Amino acid sequence: MSKTIAIANQKGGVGKTTTSINLAASLAASEYRTLLIDIDPQANSTSGLGVENNNPSIYEVLIGNVLPEDAIKASFIPFLDVLPSTINLVGAEIEIVDLPNRERLLKERLKLIDDRYDFILIDCPPSLSLLTLNALSSADTVLIPVQCEYFALEGLGQLLNTINIVKHHFNKNLTIEGVLLTMYDSRLRLSQQVTEEVQRYFGEKVFNTIIHRNVRLSEAPSFGKPIIMYDALSTGARNYIALAAELIERNQSYLKVAK
Ligand SMILES: Nc1ncnc2c1ncn2[C@@H]1O[C@H](COP(=O)(O)OP(=O)(O)O)[C@@H](O)[C@H]1O
Ligand SMILES: [Mg+2]
Repeated sequence: MSKTIAIANQKGGVGKTTTSINLAASLAASEYRTLLIDIDPQANSTSGLGVENNNPSIYEVLIGNVLPEDAIKASFIPFLDVLPSTINLVGAEIEIVDLPNRERLLKERLKLIDDRYDFILIDCPPSLSLLTLNALSSADTVLIPVQCEYFALEGLGQLLNTINIVKHHFNKNLTIEGVLLTMYDSRLRLSQQVTEEVQRYFGEKVFNTIIHRNVRLSEAPSFGKPIIMYDALSTGARNYIALAAELIERNQSYLKVAK
């Protein structure tokens, strides 16, 4: 059984893709069999890991008759596979709207590979669309990146509401894995204020690990590398390794059962 985590926030630019790539790579570096599913038509997780987004992709898995195992590609990192996205996925929303079970297409497909991975991460698009609903319906938990900036909490009510709707209708065991503070800038009083506000609101759900703003993290994707391979000693690398360690620690009991 894999632990499936949707990385979601309908706001763009909060660090979903950066977290998907680097958490997945850090889990794989600890030799956990990891799959990153890119369900964002922008395909930034796919290119950020140096994986070609040629067909078949998640699009053919969702819409067509392609099996996940035939679309999954090995990355150049041991223990890390990618189910790539393509721009074709833009049209998927409209194509699946009339399908029966339209919110559960991904869940059905993932059943076929559930025993192959320890962790499956799903990088969601910046919307609460059918693609995101598919991700939430397939997931055990949701990881919510929150950027340390003005209006950080804005829109989170809507996300929590959507999570509740999914829980009620499609996936009763869905829970929040954690809230992750991203792009923390220690020079800014604002970052500290946002951190306190998010901790007040979400309490224990906030990861102890905070992802600092680090330019190396924004450079790495253009080289098709996760931060641990681009600059292993950077703050960004240390932060994401710490996040993986915290996630593994929080999931000890689950991982023991799975192994
Ligand atoms: N901790 C960070 N430090 C510096 N830049 C970051 C950090 N996290 C993300 N970025 C940059 O911010 C932009 C948005 O991040 P991204 O992960 O693509 O967000 P999302 O997937 O939520 O839209 C990208 O250019 C990314 O490289
Ligand atoms: Mg993204």
